[in-house]
Amino acid sequence: MSAMIQAEGLTKYYGRVLAVDDVSFSVDEGEVVAFLGPNAAGKTTTMRMLTGFTPATMGSAAIAGHEVATESLAARQHIGYMPEVMALYPELTVQQYLAHFAKLRGVESHDRDERIEEISALCGVEEVADTHCGKLSKGYRQRVGLAQALVHDPDVLILDEPTIGLDPVQIRETRRLIKDLGKEHTVMLSTHILPEAQMTCERVIIIANGQIVAVDTPANLAAQIRKTETMYLKVREESSRAPRTIRDMADVIDVQPADETRGDGKAYLVSSEMGVDIREQLSTLAIQRGWGLLEMRPVAMTLEDVYLDLTTEEEGV
Ligand SMILES: Nc1ncnc2c1ncn2[C@@H]1O[C@H](COP(=O)(O)OP(=O)(O)O)[C@@H](O)[C@H]1O
Ligand SMILES: [Mg+2]
Repeated sequence: MSAMIQAEGLTKYYGRVLAVDDVSFSVDEGEVVAFLGPNAAGKTTTMRMLTGFTPATMGSAAIAGHEVATESLAARQHIGYMPEVMALYPELTVQQYLAHFAKLRGVESHDRDERIEEISALCGVEEVADTHCGKLSKGYRQRVGLAQALVHDPDVLILDEPTIGLDPVQIRETRRLIKDLGKEHTVMLSTHILPEAQMTCERVIIIANGQIVAVDTPANLAAQIRKTETMYLKVREESSRAPRTIRDMADVIDVQPADETRGDGKAYLVSSEMGVDIREQLSTLAIQRGWGLLEMRPVAMTLEDVYLDLTTEEEGV
């Protein structure tokens, strides 16, 4: 299988700000990959380097085997890019706007009308064909952005936060459309929303602070990080010594107060080595010390925890 998107040591400085730091990855033909990371992680900057809109300070990108820096025309022929913020021409109608890009990207003039019709139907923008771009709602603007990206029938789609700012119904429609497109295209979409990555993509590339921190399937990511098991423990007595006493247990790694302390008592999250069952030990301890055991249950780690774990900097614990 050949790589359709290849990033090799991509690095971007804005002045002295290091926005993207030595980013390498590849996306194979037919894959649908999420580029997941919090705001300011470097997603947009990376995508702009992949598509040739911003030169890399260091490193290189290739699309369908064409170097973006040196074979930009050939590379761009394969790319459908939906930027985070669309540069719409407010005075053009949607029809004219799409025709403009079709021409620009080399769609033969005798094919243009048919192509625009086809893509307008697919992206649901037929009803705004004669509307001026400047007058489009956010939802339509996103769809026109997608139509624009697809107009020259590229095989690689690079979509920068395609669902941002949409209402829930539009989000669902857009995700469905992307899934459909994924059957025939190589797709890389950026998002800061974890469930979106899980729902639409087979593989996730996680970026934080300009660096790739993980690349895997959603399921593997959740499993990979699960090195510890966590137990939720709730006791009646507010004993200031309880955390230290629990932490002194042989298999316990850490004890943290649980955020949610609904009702009576005091709750803790007790993490222990993977595969060690501390329930008996822990309950015995709580009873011996007379803390008043109210609740004890294992806590499953979600991909949400994994994501937070990977993208949040340790704050000098
Ligand atoms: N044109 C620019 N000039 C200066 N700094 C920028 C510019 N674009 C982005 N940055 C900075 O680079 C970092 C990464 O931004 P960006 O790629 O937009 O992240 P994301 O898309 O993940 O939110 C941020 O710290 C941002 O402030
Ligand atoms: Mg962005």
